[in-house]
Amino acid sequence: MPRITLPLLAPRSPCGLAVGALRVLGISAVLALGLASAGCSSGGGNASGSGGSGSGSGGASSGSGGNGSGGASSGGAVGTGGHASSGGATGSGGSGSGSGGATGTACSPPADKNQPVEKLSDTGCMSAQTPTAFASIVVPYSVNSPLWSDGADKARGFVLPAGGKIHVKNCADSSENCDGGASDPDDGKWVFPVGTVMVKNFAFDDKLLETRLFVRHDADTWVGYSYAWSEDQKSATIVPASGSEVMFNTGSRTVDWHYPSRENCMKCHKPTGGSTLGPETAQMNRMADDGSMNQIDMIKQMGLFENTVPTPYKAAMVTPYPSQVGSPPSSATVEQKARAYLHANCAFCHRPDDPDFFYTDMRLGVPFADMGICGQDPQKSDLGVIGSKRLDPGKPMNSLMWLRMNAALDESAREPDRMPPLASYVVDPDGLKVVGDWISGLSGPCPDPTSLLAPVRQAPVSHAP
Ligand code: HEC
Ligand code: HEC
Repeated sequence: MPRITLPLLAPRSPCGLAVGALRVLGISAVLALGLASAGCSSGGGNASGSGGSGSGSGGASSGSGGNGSGGASSGGAVGTGGHASSGGATGSGGSGSGSGGATGTACSPPADKNQPVEKLSDTGCMSAQTPTAFASIVVPYSVNSPLWSDGADKARGFVLPAGGKIHVKNCADSSENCDGGASDPDDGKWVFPVGTVMVKNFAFDDKLLETRLFVRHDADTWVGYSYAWSEDQKSATIVPASGSEVMFNTGSRTVDWHYPSRENCMKCHKPTGGSTLGPETAQMNRMADDGSMNQIDMIKQMGLFENTVPTPYKAAMVTPYPSQVGSPPSSATVEQKARAYLHANCAFCHRPDDPDFFYTDMRLGVPFADMGICGQDPQKSDLGVIGSKRLDPGKPMNSLMWLRMNAALDESAREPDRMPPLASYVVDPDGLKVVGDWISGLSGPCPDPTSLLAPVRQAPVSHAP
């Protein structure tokens, strides 16, 4: 029998309403209700709420009921959405979301980008019942090659605005404005609509330290917000725009954790790199975390793509080394592992249209000869190693890529030695080994660039996000 869950939420404002999302699992449907209360409309918001589309094959296996989320905002408008992420072994739900009022209680961007909601529990992005878990409207996902974050475990998800869809960049289509045509390394990037909220949790020893929200306010504006978790895991509070640092006791150890400033978010999440940095077909082409099906198939089934994702899907990016997201396939070469690592950890800055450093291109898919690294003298410091190159084949310790990954971060330096130059304080031992093994296995001479567009030869080109 399908189960129906009607979560009860206490109203959060005098004008509020209890809102519930009806969820019917196993019969391919998700219902979302949007409600507004007469007499409470003076705050100006219009009631909105929209049901998502969803589909799933009706497995008879017992589905577990998702939890509803939603809230009442002071604007007098209420929206809610429901998303059933799985119903037993089969069947996946849809998603819907609505927003109302100024507080963004349905996990939507805050009305004023400088006034984020104070408590994470009031954003609607986390479950009302289990505040450390994503709300059911959040579509969870993982990536094949993650960013190293000082060893933290991470969980990721997104919430689209009502009716919003993901556009998948298809460079075979000439209207897409990809410089490199079908083989452009940005092929397959996912572009999220205005109103999107991306969510990422950071944890050590199963204790959350931080939740980050990255939200699209309008066509040109994404803003990042950071929430700091209390050690007792009861609540998370907005981090000041300037960031902060804590010694966090997980119960089994103390972690020195830095919450990045809002400005620092934007030093990595740049429009040139696509603003959102994980989701692209090669990163998302993997099993969903619940093991039920391919992640892209699941999002497709929910009806969340604006256009068709070309099939067969772009080959899955290799996982560089065993970690939370899995292990490299046994067939993976050291080059594939190193290139996947550089793509995820370096290439959102090291690309030819980057405003700060455009001499190198570390994106996956760029021919080695066109990366602007092999045998290249440094533009910046030699890090005290006379004769060092960006990459010296066979010699990691004469290669600035390796030396900089192994350097300590000095935040007071105008041009830090450390790469990435911010937000990572612990050297990634496995990443360093993968890149070191790759460099060790290379031999000279360095190849000539195959393309006039290769970054060594070229000044920055402007590029639409
Ligand atoms: C050192 C660069 C860097 C900084 C600084 C940074 N991020 Fe990210 N972030 C990334 C990369 C790379 C990914 C994708 C890889 C992954 O998810 O592991 C990512 C992923 C995310 C995601 C998931 C959506 C996406 O874009 O893939 C969110 C949400 C996010 N970051 C929020 C923030 C916020 C908020 C801040 C500032 C408080 C911030 N990030 C600072 C590099 C950075
Ligand atoms: C947040 C953007 C960003 C990220 C991420 C990043 N870099 Fe850099 N990188 C820079 C900038 C900017 C410079 C120029 C030096 C400076 O001004 O600090 C640079 C310089 C370098 C240089 C020296 C080049 C020269 O000619 O002197 C190397 C090598 C390098 N980075 C490798 C890497 C590697 C490897 C990674 C990933 C592990 C990485 N970078 C990640 C921004 C970044």
